Amino acid sequence: MMKMIKLPDGTEIPAIGQGTWNMGDDESRRHDEIQALRTGIDQGLFVIDTAEMYGKGRSECLVREAIINRRDEVFLVSKVLPSNAAYEDVLEACNRSLERLGTDYLDMYLLHWRGAVPLAETVAAFEQLKEVGKIKRWGVSNFDTDDMEELWNVENGKNCATNQVLYNLTARGIEYDLIPWHQEKRVPIMAYCPLAQGDRQEILQNGAVRDLAKKYEVSVSQIALAWTVQTGQVLSIPKAGQAAHVIENAEAGNLILSKEDLAKLNKEFPPPTSKVPLEVV
Ligand SMILES: NC(=O)c1ccc[n+]([C@@H]2O[C@H](COP(=O)([O-])OP(=O)(O)OC[C@H]3O[C@@H](n4cnc5c(N)ncnc54)[C@H](OP(=O)(O)O)[C@@H]3O)[C@@H](O)[C@H]2O)c1
Repeated sequence: MMKMIKLPDGTEIPAIGQGTWNMGDDESRRHDEIQALRTGIDQGLFVIDTAEMYGKGRSECLVREAIINRRDEVFLVSKVLPSNAAYEDVLEACNRSLERLGTDYLDMYLLHWRGAVPLAETVAAFEQLKEVGKIKRWGVSNFDTDDMEELWNVENGKNCATNQVLYNLTARGIEYDLIPWHQEKRVPIMAYCPLAQGDRQEILQNGAVRDLAKKYEVSVSQIALAWTVQTGQVLSIPKAGQAAHVIENAEAGNLILSKEDLAKLNKEFPPPTSKVPLEVV
């Protein structure tokens, strides 16, 4: 059974979704990428994360093709750039994203990272979009604990439904204070780059990870991905442009690592013992 994550409004979504960064950039991969996203939906990975930034809208256009006639099956997340975070700009950016995605609503709309616009102004725009039904809920991305505290003190800031941040075996800094903060507020974290972009030799060549992959009869990537969602508080959005990878990632959502095995991973990839400034990609 795929682990589920509860959003603050009670909506439950699977702990593994699908990222789309770089999708749509290479015409020769387009067919496979669309097939991969569709396979993911079939496998229950129905949270799809995209952004206006990705390929300057190309990823959103590709997602449109992948979800055609399947909009209702998908939990669609997109992001507004900080350069579009002023009130009217958010409303216009959202319209453009909806157009590219071929839908009239987003399930979640995130501020991609903090810029110069006061948080209160962006939040007011998000609330307006919610009011008119163009988004169901909103959240933020790349916010450290002090940013979240600030957001909590802004009018309607507590309506934030998630914070999308970097999290994988080689980037565990958020365990020190950001994850506990989110647990206390019951706002789930969305982990980006959960596979450390797929090419981190530190993970791929690690003896303990390789031993666990053998023991559970899965791939090294599946161990790394399963690890990100063990707490039940984190939703992970690996990007996979190949259907075979998507199927593996869906299986990782069912994998439960034993306490002893989690301890082995802690030894290889130690959790933080003091504050680590939020890492970003
Ligand atoms: N909010 C932000 O600032 C932010 C920043 C970065 C990323 N993100 C979001 O998070 C998503 C994930 O991050 P990411 O794409 O940078 O990195 P990632 O998901 O950690 O890694 C993607 C890489 O892993 C490979 N892969 C996927 N599944 C695999 C498997 N089962 N076995 C082996 N390799 C596998 C993919 O290959 P194939 O494509 O060939 O399958 C791809 O090369 C993004 O796509 C984006 O939606 C958000």
